[in-house]
Amino acid sequence: MRWRELYPEWQEAVEELVRSDGVILALGATDTGKSTFCALLLRLKHQAGQNAGFVDLDVGQTTVGPPTTFSSVLLNKPYELLSELTPHSLAFLGDVSPVRHVSLALTGARRVLDDLMPLQPQSVVIDTDGYIGGWHGRAYKLMLIDLLRPQAIVALQRAGELEPILSALRLRANWKLYELPVPKTILRKSPPQRAQHRRAAFARYFEKAQSHTLPLDQFRFIGRRLGAGQPISDNRRRFLADQVHAELLHAEMVGDSLHLIVRQPLNDAQIEMLMTLANVNKLVMLPQSAYHNLLVGLIDYTGRCYGLGLIERLDYKARVLEVLSPVRSVQPVRWVQLGYLRVLPDGTELGEPLREG
Ligand SMILES: Nc1ncnc2c1ncn2[C@@H]1O[C@H](COP(=O)(O)OP(=O)(O)O)[C@@H](O)[C@H]1O
Ligand SMILES: [Mg+2]
Repeated sequence: MRWRELYPEWQEAVEELVRSDGVILALGATDTGKSTFCALLLRLKHQAGQNAGFVDLDVGQTTVGPPTTFSSVLLNKPYELLSELTPHSLAFLGDVSPVRHVSLALTGARRVLDDLMPLQPQSVVIDTDGYIGGWHGRAYKLMLIDLLRPQAIVALQRAGELEPILSALRLRANWKLYELPVPKTILRKSPPQRAQHRRAAFARYFEKAQSHTLPLDQFRFIGRRLGAGQPISDNRRRFLADQVHAELLHAEMVGDSLHLIVRQPLNDAQIEMLMTLANVNKLVMLPQSAYHNLLVGLIDYTGRCYGLGLIERLDYKARVLEVLSPVRSVQPVRWVQLGYLRVLPDGTELGEPLREG
């Protein structure tokens, strides 16, 4: 087979891993061939008649699910490319990197692997992102490994960049560590290429999306500040609104701060008066449109993320949320997980993030 010529440095490890069961995790910086290695290993396992599972934990450059998600899938049917498979399980991160969301990433990783296990894969191959630098990247990868407990770790390294992680992994006896070089055939992608790849993946995902209307009472927002607080009663909200002569569409107390959705921005005097009346130290004020184009995860009544959406309209007057999503129905939605990225249906990522205070 041609792969032996393309990646001669990997031959021995691949031949051993094709035959072994259990969980195998690929580790390395960006463009070190992690995804190539996983795809190759899965292809060979599939050809050998194994029921292998794939767990995709690279939210920036996903292979199976839409960008910003973790996913898992069982390879029990013929396939051409991993990218054409429908994920069995999804976990929504809502950002293109786990850097600022480590706990969310760890929870999601555990979930997609757990969801795969009842399908009884003989072995599972886990692909990861290239975030390995700094103490933070190292800590994330070590926690991920401790959480997922792979029996084998494939470490792909160019020039010592993985050493801080490897030196820690070598001292543990829980896994077999395969330290491999990066073959010459593995090319580096530029950041614009990566962004373009992601844009195309988003566009594909939202290609057949439709608008859905969700009554606000059907679900709760999770993941960010909105919806996390104690709602202020309608009477009290109207009283506060009357006092400052402004339209307060939604108000809730999140800790010691007041989270407000307003029609028009308030002036300093109005803010000061509101803070005194509500007895709060902090006030966050946003228009409804602040949430428009925000990427969200649609979570059903079993906790499953079954699709992604883009907020088209958040309307506290009509008490509805409109989301653009390829899911067939929003009937099962119980939680709407707010993401960190604003995206247009054609895949364009809008720069300015949502600042919720
Ligand atoms: N045989 C090959 N010929 C040409 N390019 C290849 C080959 N194998 C891998 N590549 C390219 O190398 C790049 C990096 O590989 P990839 O597996 O995506 O790395 P990682 O997952 O670590 O970021 C990809 O753009 C991929 O298309
Ligand atoms: Mg990859």
